[in-house]
Amino acid sequence: MKVFLTGATGFVGSQVLQDLLEKGHQVRCLVREGSQGKLRVWEGVEIAVGDVLGPESLREKLRGCQAAIYLVGIIREFPRKGITFDRLHYQGARNVMEAANEQEVSRFLHMSALGARAGAPSCYHQTKYMAEEYLKESGLAYTIFRPSVIFGPKDEFVNLLARMIQKAPLVPVVGDGKYKLQPVALENVSQSFVRALEMPETVGKAYEVAGPEKLEYNQVLDIIGEALGRRVRKLHFPLSLMRPLVAGLEKFPSFPLTREQLIMLQEENVGDERPFFQDFGIVPLTFREGIARYIKRRG
Ligand SMILES: NC(=O)c1ccc[n+]([C@@H]2O[C@H](COP(=O)([O-])OP(=O)(O)OC[C@H]3O[C@@H](n4cnc5c(N)ncnc54)[C@H](OP(=O)(O)O)[C@@H]3O)[C@@H](O)[C@H]2O)c1
Repeated sequence: MKVFLTGATGFVGSQVLQDLLEKGHQVRCLVREGSQGKLRVWEGVEIAVGDVLGPESLREKLRGCQAAIYLVGIIREFPRKGITFDRLHYQGARNVMEAANEQEVSRFLHMSALGARAGAPSCYHQTKYMAEEYLKESGLAYTIFRPSVIFGPKDEFVNLLARMIQKAPLVPVVGDGKYKLQPVALENVSQSFVRALEMPETVGKAYEVAGPEKLEYNQVLDIIGEALGRRVRKLHFPLSLMRPLVAGLEKFPSFPLTREQLIMLQEENVGDERPFFQDFGIVPLTFREGIARYIKRRG
């Protein structure tokens, strides 16, 4: 099948691209001008230079494809550069959905996020939800994926925490750290996208994509510490202190937390993972097993 893939240079997209090629698909990657160098040149890959925010040029780029995959997303806004949740999660997705419809692309796989719902407190989740709703009304043969935090060798989440655990004597934790996450392995997520292309029974469905364990943030830190052979000493900061601090510092891109992320952490990020693993016939990888493959003891 010829698949139109957006986000192929990213953390999730590079794995999805590799898995699509291994399954024998032809892949046309939409890559932004200047990002071509991030993509390895593989047999079976066609590069289409473009932007999901440029609806005019998108139409032609989807011509001849049988499926489209939307993986573009951001975790942090930079409004002065035009990088906003509304533009990338909603408008960009809508542009690709419209182009897919015009080109009669029969299948559409959409990356949303766990927690996307009407009235969500974060803009991240609201805009993911808006794209889901648009897709449901689009007439496309869609499948929606809503992952919790995804872990894998080049992730930002686990690698950032591992660096903190290694370098800092105390690891900062927002509030009591008892809020839960359900980390899911990149390879499990990627497998599901590739399998969905050949599973018409997944059309019209939205899946909560989460790992086999619901872990408190404190446990996530301890498991990473175990993999590194270090005991994690935590320093808990009350939310009342963190809110103004984050509001003041989030404008610095090197500050690792934004108000949006604070809202999302607090509201937890867990769901029912069973339909996902059952329907796709995927064996879940646990967080401990998965990170042991790339987080290593040093010294
Ligand atoms: N990672 C997680 O834990 C997680 C959890 C839940 C949901 N998700 C969702 O999964 C998706 C992929 O996440 P990720 O972690 O792989 O993100 P990522 O590594 O930041 O990749 C984002 C991709 O989007 C591309 N992109 C950005 N703006 C674009 C534009 N205007 N036009 C075309 N492409 C554009 C980037 O291309 P450039 O190389 O040009 O920047 C990159 O390929 C996102 O929708 C995210 O919300 C991720």
